[in-house]
Amino acid sequence: MRGETRTVWPAARRVAGGLALLGAATVGYGVYERDAYTLTRREVPILAPGAAPLRLLHLSDLHVTPGQTRKFDWLGELGRLVPDLVAMTGDVLSHQDSSAPLRRALAPLYAFPGVFIPGNNDYYVPKPRSPHHYFKRHPGGPHKGPALDWDGFAKDLVADSGWRDMTHVHDVLTIGGRRLDVRGVDDARSRRDRVALVAGPPEPGADVVLGLSHTPEPRVLDAFTADGVQLTLSGHTHGGQIRLPFVGALVTNCGLDPSRARGLSRWSAAGPDGAQRMSWLHVSAGLGTSPYAPIRLGCRPEATLLTLVPAR
Ligand SMILES: [Fe+2]
Repeated sequence: MRGETRTVWPAARRVAGGLALLGAATVGYGVYERDAYTLTRREVPILAPGAAPLRLLHLSDLHVTPGQTRKFDWLGELGRLVPDLVAMTGDVLSHQDSSAPLRRALAPLYAFPGVFIPGNNDYYVPKPRSPHHYFKRHPGGPHKGPALDWDGFAKDLVADSGWRDMTHVHDVLTIGGRRLDVRGVDDARSRRDRVALVAGPPEPGADVVLGLSHTPEPRVLDAFTADGVQLTLSGHTHGGQIRLPFVGALVTNCGLDPSRARGLSRWSAAGPDGAQRMSWLHVSAGLGTSPYAPIRLGCRPEATLLTLVPAR
């Protein structure tokens, strides 16, 4: 028996040691991937036949805290893309001192028209949470830290950039001679969305119809699609943040199916006449993470250049 014990325990120690090493390597890689900023390019076929392409730079979930110099430098490089429009879909603040460094980092993009809306994390500093909340579809319980001054940030951003705050605004932007019908809502995850305030058919003569909603909640996507929105831009999911091979995202932290946690997908909803309408949904995997879940696995942080092209 003694001999067997001596044989079993070294083996158990080797297994435990191997698992600890594997865990440490996984976390180490997750920290590396968290900062591996990537530009994703996608085409969306929604323009009229013969129309020239329209390039949208979609930013989301930056979760900025002071001192994120790599992220700030990378954001500054995006000006080289010369987009027709920058769209920023919320969760950009994660600290009470985020506003000034974020606005400095975005400055190279102020040469282009822009629109933005808030996300659920733009109103309060995040608090540490138990990791098991990650796997809950609708995590409950208190999760708010001190208040963030979203209104002050939005006002300063508009003053710096000339971008439009599209929170519960439905308007037409004329860009390069083209008319963009754009409507945006406050965050749906925290039930601040009031879709009725921006509802209605597209403005006559609009070349493209866009919706902005930080959280891609189905009720917002249904309302936008029913009204004739062609493309909704969202974030919030972080693409799942941890994606498993052959499985993908496990959660979206909202009512959206995990298979749509990032990238383009189609959405359908009945219009006012009862007929089924189709739209596109683009969910950005985002550029940041919560300070309390600072890793990404199989899900690089991204900005996306969406090129709108004629429908096929
Ligand atoms: Fe986020």
